[in-house]
Amino acid sequence: MARMRTVYNCSDCGAAHHKWAGKCDSCGAWNSLVEDVEDPAESVTLAAGMALVPPGTPQPLSTLSSATGKPTPTTIGELDRVLDGGLVPGSVTLLGGEPGIGKSTLLLQLLAAWPKKSLYVTAEESAQQVRLRAERLNALRDDVWLLSEASLTNIVAAIDSVAPTLIVIDSIQAVADPTLGSAPGSVVQVRGCAYRLVQEAKSRNIPVILVGHVTKEGGLAGPRVLEHVVDTVLSFEGDRHHALRLLRAVKHRFGSTSELGLFEMTETGLAGVPDASQMFLADRRPGTPGSIVVPTLEGQRPLLVEVQALTNPVSSGVPPRRSAQGLDPGRLAMLLAVLERRARLSLSQHEVYASVVGGVKLTEPSSDLGLCIALVSAATNTPTPSDLVVCGEVGLGGELRNVAHLSRRLAEAARLGFTRAIVPASGAEKAKPSKHAGLTVQPAGSLSEALALAQLSVA
Ligand code: TYD
Ligand code: MG
Repeated sequence: MARMRTVYNCSDCGAAHHKWAGKCDSCGAWNSLVEDVEDPAESVTLAAGMALVPPGTPQPLSTLSSATGKPTPTTIGELDRVLDGGLVPGSVTLLGGEPGIGKSTLLLQLLAAWPKKSLYVTAEESAQQVRLRAERLNALRDDVWLLSEASLTNIVAAIDSVAPTLIVIDSIQAVADPTLGSAPGSVVQVRGCAYRLVQEAKSRNIPVILVGHVTKEGGLAGPRVLEHVVDTVLSFEGDRHHALRLLRAVKHRFGSTSELGLFEMTETGLAGVPDASQMFLADRRPGTPGSIVVPTLEGQRPLLVEVQALTNPVSSGVPPRRSAQGLDPGRLAMLLAVLERRARLSLSQHEVYASVVGGVKLTEPSSDLGLCIALVSAATNTPTPSDLVVCGEVGLGGELRNVAHLSRRLAEAARLGFTRAIVPASGAEKAKPSKHAGLTVQPAGSLSEALALAQLSVA
């Protein structure tokens, strides 16, 4: 039995400390150090495992074949879009997301669609629970093998006997290697098990997918150390109260990370959403003050979303409430200050609620103008024209700044039947209006000009 030593590992970044401290020296996280045991045998095990891979021989780059890196399509269109074609043989993908978001559902659907033998290892649920889910998803197939097991040794033995062409481990935090001394879910365990499964993927040249839980701060898959071990990190996001789910690649060694996959959680599992804009706008009630449509970009994908605002006067003395849903509260505060200073709209005695409909998060500044217009429309109780979209970053001087890929955004607005777009003057010429049949592009240099074009006046 190897000699164990106590260490304190950061549950965020995995850095080891010999003494406990309130703050991690390495990543600066507070209260993230947890007691663990360092197993000197671990490094030996890893080194021995590495020997499975033949020693590297230098070769001229030009003589290497790229054929082995070709992705196999998963036949789930939205997943293939994010993976840039599919799963690469020998690659390891980490799928992270909050509990209940639909990770197990997505992966079971993937296995059911996979044309050859696959193995689903559940370390959290019973085999019956998985079977029930598979029935609901219509995913019962003879080629999908199920193992309910948390011990890495038994998992590796099952991989040997089943010889699958795709493996899913749900979840990596619940799997433990009995030869490592520390507790399941600890940094040593998660890292050790992940390394071992990476070796399985590489030596068998099959794709392996690991499910990872997110930390309480929303970071992906607990110990960040996992992100270095795997080839691809996918993040599955969404608001549990809404049906929409967004899938993004945070890291991808075999392609771009700019694609976004969209799914809707239905009674029978996840369904791809090819036309998201239409879905977001389905419940919109034109003519309601405080509502405007914004053409945003999620990765490379244009999306039209509705931004809403509501304002109410409050009695003086009470600090008025500000709430931003799907928007950055700091950005809302800044735009309220700009509106007060540059458009003479003071909401200092109003509570202000702003939200993006459908559980989407707007992170790019191109939605600034939309938020300002929604706020003015709400505060003045004036509806915005229903055929209008607006787009632009608002500067502290009240100037409108250009946004990236304006043309792509406008094409999406035109496709959905919008006929007017207010855009930053500096980007208007480049927007090639001929491409957006039926859409009149109206340039504005400042917030005040944009408000006038939207027929909103601050009395
Ligand atoms: P699940 O895949 O278990 O999430 P995770 O593995 O990320 O924790 O699914 C989560 C939720 O999805 C669950 O609350 C029930 C719901 N759901 C549906 O709405 N439809 C379905 O067909 C399935 C299988 C689940
Ligand atoms: Mg699950």
